[in-house]
Order: sequence, then C-alpha cells, then structure tokens
Amino acid sequence: MIGVRVPRKEANQVRLFLLEHNILNLDFKIKRSQDHVYLPLLEEAGNDFIKDKNLQLVETVFEENIKSPRSMEEYLKDQIPAEKLEDLKKSFDIIGEVVILEIPPELDEEKKAIAEAALKFTKRQAVYRKGSEVKGITRTRELEHLAGEDQSETIHQEFGTRIMLDVKKVYFSPRLATERKIITDQVQDGELVLDMFSGVGPFALSIARHHQAEIYAADINPEAINYLKRNIKLNKLQERIIPIQGDVKEVLKNMDLKFDRIIMNLPGSAGEFLPVALEHLKAGGVLHYYQFSRNTDEPVDNIKKAAKNRQMEILAKRKVKSTKPGEWHVAVDARIC
Ligand SMILES: C[S@@+](CC[C@H](N)C(=O)[O-])C[C@H]1O[C@@H](n2cnc3c(N)ncnc32)[C@H](O)[C@@H]1O
Repeated sequence: MIGVRVPRKEANQVRLFLLEHNILNLDFKIKRSQDHVYLPLLEEAGNDFIKDKNLQLVETVFEENIKSPRSMEEYLKDQIPAEKLEDLKKSFDIIGEVVILEIPPELDEEKKAIAEAALKFTKRQAVYRKGSEVKGITRTRELEHLAGEDQSETIHQEFGTRIMLDVKKVYFSPRLATERKIITDQVQDGELVLDMFSGVGPFALSIARHHQAEIYAADINPEAINYLKRNIKLNKLQERIIPIQGDVKEVLKNMDLKFDRIIMNLPGSAGEFLPVALEHLKAGGVLHYYQFSRNTDEPVDNIKKAAKNRQMEILAKRKVKSTKPGEWHVAVDARIC
C-alpha cells in the first residue's frame, strides 16, 4: 500500500502534517527502520499534494491495527483478575492520538497490560496514566508514559475544529466538547467576545468557526498561547481571534474595550475574576461563568454579589460534569444589564 518515507527526526512533524490534512491512515501501523519512519496514507491522498511537500512516496506493506475488541474490559479479562477489573476506572480520555487513563494504585502491577489494551482498543499512538490532579496556575497534570510512542503533541478534532496541543504542557479536556457547542450556539454574528482563560483556544476557535465574531483570547500559560496561535492558522481564523499571553487581570487593566460576551472557564478560581470581568462586560452582555460547586445556587450567588446593583437575568444553569462525589463543574449563563 501507499505511504511516505521520512528520516526519523522529521517523522513527528510529518505525522502531524498528515494528521492535520486527514491523510494518515489510522487503520495501519506506522513502521520504522533504523533511519526512517514509514507512515501509511489513505488511498485518496493526492500524490501532487505529497510531492509539493517534498515527501517521498513509497509502495510498501503496513501491518493492520488489530480490530477493536468490543470493550477494553473484554480484552483484559484474561490478563487481569476479574475482581481487579472491577476497580479499573473504565472512563478514559482520548485527545487526538493520545489516550489518558486513570488507573487506581491497586492496579499498579497491571498498568502496562491495561495501557497496551488501551492502545489496541483505541488504535491511538500513545497511552499515558494520570499522575496527579490538574494543578497550579496552568491547570496541567503529571503524566506517566505507559505504552506506544512517548509523543504528547497531537491534533484533536472537536466538531470539525482542529486543536493542536501538547497534553503535558497545557490544559485540555475533551469532556467539555458539548459545553463549547452550547456556548457557540448562543453567539450572534457581530459580537465582541472575551475568552478570559482560553487555553489552546477550544471555545474561541469554535465560536470563530461558526460566527462573524471578534474574539480576544487570553491565557497566562505561554505554551497554551503558542498552540492557540498555531490553531488559529490551522483553522484559518487569523481575522477573528486575537491571542494574548498574560494574567488576564493585567491584560484587562490596559484595555478599554467592553465585550458582548465573556467566557470564564477557570472553575477553581473564576470567582476572583468576577469584578474585573463585570467591569469589561457591556450593559446587556452575557457572562458564561464556571465554578466547582456542590450546587448551582452558589455560583449564581457569587455572580449576584459581584454584579452589585446591576440587574441580572439567569439564562441557564448546567452541571457540566462531575468532578468528585457530590461536586460539579457548574456553568451559569447570566445576562447582566
Ligand atoms: C481550566 S483551563 C481552561 C482552558 C480552556 N478554556 C479550555 O476549555 O480548554 C484554565 C486556563 O486558565 C489559564 N489561567 C489561569 N490563571 C490565569 C490568569 N490569571 N490569566 C489568564 N489565564 C489564566 C490556565 O493557564 C489554563 O489554560
């Protein structure tokens, strides 16, 4: 079958390029010789397109990825005692070519078998285990590489938006995909939007792909802003998104603008940023406020306190996802007059 042959040190860059253009054939395994890497291509990959990039096309044999078993549990049942399988948290995240698993300490000895199963089951290229909670100002977590390539940079697709990121360097959760769609669907053409904690830009990119809006996207993590800049190009949204690296409180001090809509997805401490957000929200503007909470009333009360005498209308309250027993990542959409 058809593939491209590249020197080993260029392989990752080419792999990302092929992924980006949807021409890497994920049903077959990448293979390696001492000096080269061979990447399988989809049959419909245009030869001219590949030649333009000076890539060497080859006709070779690639090993097919093992067909997915019905579930990872089924695959593991002969390798892990049944009672231990019960302990295995079945939920895992897939971000582009990367799988991130939560494996409880009781399954330490089986972690490699579990990771190999995840690799086969998902047909992705890298498997990591969560080594900590998300922490610190950049909301990143420690990751332990367990199977496949130790390749943490990837391109994730979310409702057609391409999102490049390095799972070790920036925050990203595929579990917020529906939330991003909910917010995107509320935006009107012509709006001026602020994404206060943009990360690599999933909210901003989604809004910009669907609306003629102008979006200021700020993040304190320089890595996140570097990926946001790449994602803006990847999705051809240069005209619509303005990336800004820095502490958003400082960024806003030097900005006279008032926004139609402000997104505040920093659920551990967004409350601290409510006063500065409200200063920059137009009368009649909409706030999308996120907070970890045991109920939806507490976040609403926090907005009310910060809004002081301004009239407010709660448009919606949502439990976006469970964070720990009894606690939720809560979203509140509020119009502030
Ligand atoms: C929970 S993540 C959300 C990222 C993004 N909105 C998403 O949905 O993937 C929060 C982000 O806020 C950023 N952050 C934390 N404190 C900040 C601050 N003071 N100013 C700007 N960004 C900040 C972190 O670097 C992180 O990328």
